[in-house]
Amino acid sequence: MRYGYFDNERKEYVIDRPDVPVSWTNYLGTEDTGTVISHNAGGYMFSGDPETHRVTRFRPNGVPLDRPGHYVYLRDNADGDYWSISWQPVGKDLSKASYITRHGLSYSVFECDYRDIHASQKLFIPRGRKCEIWDVTVKNNGPAARKLSVFGYCEFSFNIIEIDNQNFQMSMYCSGSRYADGVIECDNFYNPGMYHYFTSTFEPSGYDCVRDSFIGVYRTESNPVGVEKGVLSSSTELGNNQCGALSCDFTISPGETKRFVFILGVGDLMAGKAEKKLFSSMSAVDKAFDELCAYWKAKTDTMQVKTPSADLDTMLNTWNLYQSETNVVFSRFASFIEVGGRTGLGYRDTAQDAMCVVPSNPGQCRKRIIQLLRGLTSSGYGLHLFSPEVFDPDIPKVEPFKSPTVKPMPEPSSMVHGLKDTCSDDALWLVPSICEFVRETGDVAFLDRKFGYADGGEGTVLEHMEKILEFSAKQVGKSGICLGLRADWNDCINLGGGESALVSFLHYWAIDEFIGLLEHTGRQDRIPHFEEMKAKVRQACERELWDGEWYIRGITKSGRKIGTSADEEGKVHLESNSWAVCSGLAQGEHARKAVEAIDKYLYGEWGIHLNAPSYSKPDDEIGFVTRVYRGIKENGAIFSHPNPWAWVAAAKLGMGDLAMRFYNSLCPARQNDRIEVRQSEPYAYCQFVMGRDHTAYGRARHPWLTGSAGWAYFAATHYILGIRPDYDGLVVDPCIPASWDGFEVDRIFRGKKLHISVSNPEHIQKGKPVFFSTADLDSGELSVVMKP
Ligand code: GLC
Repeated sequence: MRYGYFDNERKEYVIDRPDVPVSWTNYLGTEDTGTVISHNAGGYMFSGDPETHRVTRFRPNGVPLDRPGHYVYLRDNADGDYWSISWQPVGKDLSKASYITRHGLSYSVFECDYRDIHASQKLFIPRGRKCEIWDVTVKNNGPAARKLSVFGYCEFSFNIIEIDNQNFQMSMYCSGSRYADGVIECDNFYNPGMYHYFTSTFEPSGYDCVRDSFIGVYRTESNPVGVEKGVLSSSTELGNNQCGALSCDFTISPGETKRFVFILGVGDLMAGKAEKKLFSSMSAVDKAFDELCAYWKAKTDTMQVKTPSADLDTMLNTWNLYQSETNVVFSRFASFIEVGGRTGLGYRDTAQDAMCVVPSNPGQCRKRIIQLLRGLTSSGYGLHLFSPEVFDPDIPKVEPFKSPTVKPMPEPSSMVHGLKDTCSDDALWLVPSICEFVRETGDVAFLDRKFGYADGGEGTVLEHMEKILEFSAKQVGKSGICLGLRADWNDCINLGGGESALVSFLHYWAIDEFIGLLEHTGRQDRIPHFEEMKAKVRQACERELWDGEWYIRGITKSGRKIGTSADEEGKVHLESNSWAVCSGLAQGEHARKAVEAIDKYLYGEWGIHLNAPSYSKPDDEIGFVTRVYRGIKENGAIFSHPNPWAWVAAAKLGMGDLAMRFYNSLCPARQNDRIEVRQSEPYAYCQFVMGRDHTAYGRARHPWLTGSAGWAYFAATHYILGIRPDYDGLVVDPCIPASWDGFEVDRIFRGKKLHISVSNPEHIQKGKPVFFSTADLDSGELSVVMKP
């Protein structure tokens, strides 16, 4: 069953059946102000930090779904009938009204046809501004003139997620509103400077600032009394729940189109007035939208592919890149799952996100890398979850808002945690990310820049990298394998203080990448030390981790091996077997067998399971994973993030058919017509898909903010299509299905526009890598014939 389709020409996903099983969301905003918006215009806006600077309110995990939102209602004043431009919240009978949602790159359009009136509502956040434009058009397709009213409505938040959702004894009474000159101002009176506005470019016929006056008691956004009556009550009040509601009564002739613009923004009444003036001409609105489109065009132009797989093209050319960019901009801050209650940077997630979209967003990747360098301790471990502002000397330290409901604030020094809370993999991801940044940008000078450590002192980027590698070299257990510490990449595999195969493989990869960097920058003297370190890791891994048919997952503190052929549950794990190969450590038969074990034990039609069979009995020696229901999340679900690791592993071994089969199984676009099972949006990777040990096998959950996006993009572009930056040029090293005749790629690399055409006349899966030096790139035309 399908609910929509990809419009690749416009780079939009079009939902033509709005009653999708769960909210299908999109992201507005490309800088610090953002909105998460559903296909029904439900969602919330934030600015900077969705935990402490919410603009509009959201009732997460609520009934009904995704309320409230940024809604526009229409009312026919002849008989009082009313509807919303998005299907919800009014929810007209779908046999009488038709609705379409177009989710595009940082904008969403809602369209509705009802009783001869066509209406559309486009939401977007202009570049460089802290406001959201609601661009509404209404067209009369009927034979007679109509008297209508339009209403824009949103509910303001108490700004700080904690006091927006609980303990209202203060928050409720510090929220006030006023109205002047067509602008509604909402003020958080205790919190200096915390103002928001809602305005329109037309002169409103009516307004309401008090939520309950607009909605009415015992009513919801589905039947607000203000819309039902058609007259707003000019409410304002100090100390209540506030909203922005503005209306306009108008007459529309047959064939006529009218346009109304609402603006929701950060700032006070004056700011609202200024924005109202700025966008009072429709050409200013159009210009702002065109700028947004140009911004995205420049990004998507960094790589456009044309392959025999339409789904791969759709994902890489638009959606996968878009999702990866969203991650690097908004981290894990704001979605309908992380409703702003989890802000700050997760060390490992950020380090991986920043590795994957350097071509399209070098600036943001660099910024994230610097934040992570500052979040590294001088002992070489990263702060698992931290607020980058605390460690950034360039950000003036402002006293955070203290609610009168006294809650002690921690000292910044207490934000540096000890070994007890350290995850063993966190900082290891940063080393290859930095290498990738330099390979893509050529910015070698960055390596000598100095940054502080979270616990004091400073060092160059290279010194930070060395510390990370030394930390893992020291933190090894009895067998010489890296300690798992609090957890490794898998938050739920804790091994009771034991050793993690994954981390040793990651360590090997990071050392190998670092050696490459040392070679490139002529630091020969440091190489032997790291070669020795690398050899030691290899020996320990091959000695301790090979199980005969695959690599084990770890060793508990008591010496019990996890993920062995003797295990009935958690027998084979994806992380260790993919990373044995991705890291370059496993060679020959071991490498091949590890990938075959992934295929045999973990692969399924909806993607690759994280481990199998899933655990059924709590076992604290293994970890929290055994206390997760079977087939969910880390316990035997198809955890999406590590899936691309298996594509890389297969590609490294030249198994193009397998890499593409793995790719296809997880590919959201390929599940477009199976939404009765998948449920979630088919244009975004989800954190996980229920595994085969669950009754809802194939149901995807937690879309958007997941490391799957970046890794899927990275793995597909760098290893399946095989187009990888190198320090002195570009490598073209595809590993594709034998059936492919070839493919074409347009790529911008270090400012040069390249057209790469790959042909595969012998129908092989992998040829010899072809290296193009920087000088070779000048012609712009790269042609590669795959040869065995
Ligand atoms: C979540 C976390 C990520 C972790 C993964 C596996 O996605 O954000 O850090 O690696 O779960 O546990």
